[in-house]
Amino acid sequence: MVKPGMNTLELDEEGGGLMKDFGVKSACKGYRSGHRIFPSFTCLSVNDEVVHGIGVENRILKEGDIISVDVCIREDGMIGDNCRTIAVGTVSPEIEKLLKVTEESLYAGISQALHKNRVGDVSEAVQDHIESSGFAVITNFVGHGVGRSLHEDPQIPNFGKSGTGPKFRKGMAICIEPMVNMRSSQIRMAKDGWTAMAVDGMPSAHFEHTLLVDDEYPEILTIPDGYENAEDFLSQRTKQVAKL
Ligand code: MF3
Ligand code: CO
Repeated sequence: MVKPGMNTLELDEEGGGLMKDFGVKSACKGYRSGHRIFPSFTCLSVNDEVVHGIGVENRILKEGDIISVDVCIREDGMIGDNCRTIAVGTVSPEIEKLLKVTEESLYAGISQALHKNRVGDVSEAVQDHIESSGFAVITNFVGHGVGRSLHEDPQIPNFGKSGTGPKFRKGMAICIEPMVNMRSSQIRMAKDGWTAMAVDGMPSAHFEHTLLVDDEYPEILTIPDGYENAEDFLSQRTKQVAKL
């Protein structure tokens, strides 16, 4: 539904409507942080908005923008969380590269989410790919365990050293979510108290999946329709992204 002329409130309402049709609840709407309560069904973050953007009527998408669509739902008491950054029409080559590298860094991290590996193995794989491509890793926000709550232990930073941190165990449910800025990794909070923004006003990208740690291959729980399984999705998608 992302296209020029659409505003982010409309998109959020569409998202909320789909959740209703599927009989699931938003795990974002009503989420509490201190005294603040998150007001949207989804998190919609445009251009230099990094994460946790709120759908608003006066935020109108235009050709060349990017938007991160972060969707968390609850069903039967369990939560799933995923995000991708989408180009609105044609974007600049530099922004195309930002999206490509961020998505690739997610897959680099996923490939390390194996039984007996450590959190730092994921972190280093993500960070290496981002920094060797010349972009900046955001350190203010991290991936996380997930289950009955949206944010559970362990934290899964997008930066760190392999061989360090908690050990993964088969069956752990985690969210890996690289957040990548074009130049400066510094962020500031918008006046709404939720939206994190890139301090330098440059675009920011965010890709996320929920997965189960396994021995040989993580089981990605948030693959789109049309793929047989996580392995099929990752191999096909990796090839598509390589061509971008
Ligand atoms: N994927 C986001 C995260 O893990 C979802 C946040 S929901 C919000 O932080 F309500 F906190 F915005
Ligand atoms: Co998350």
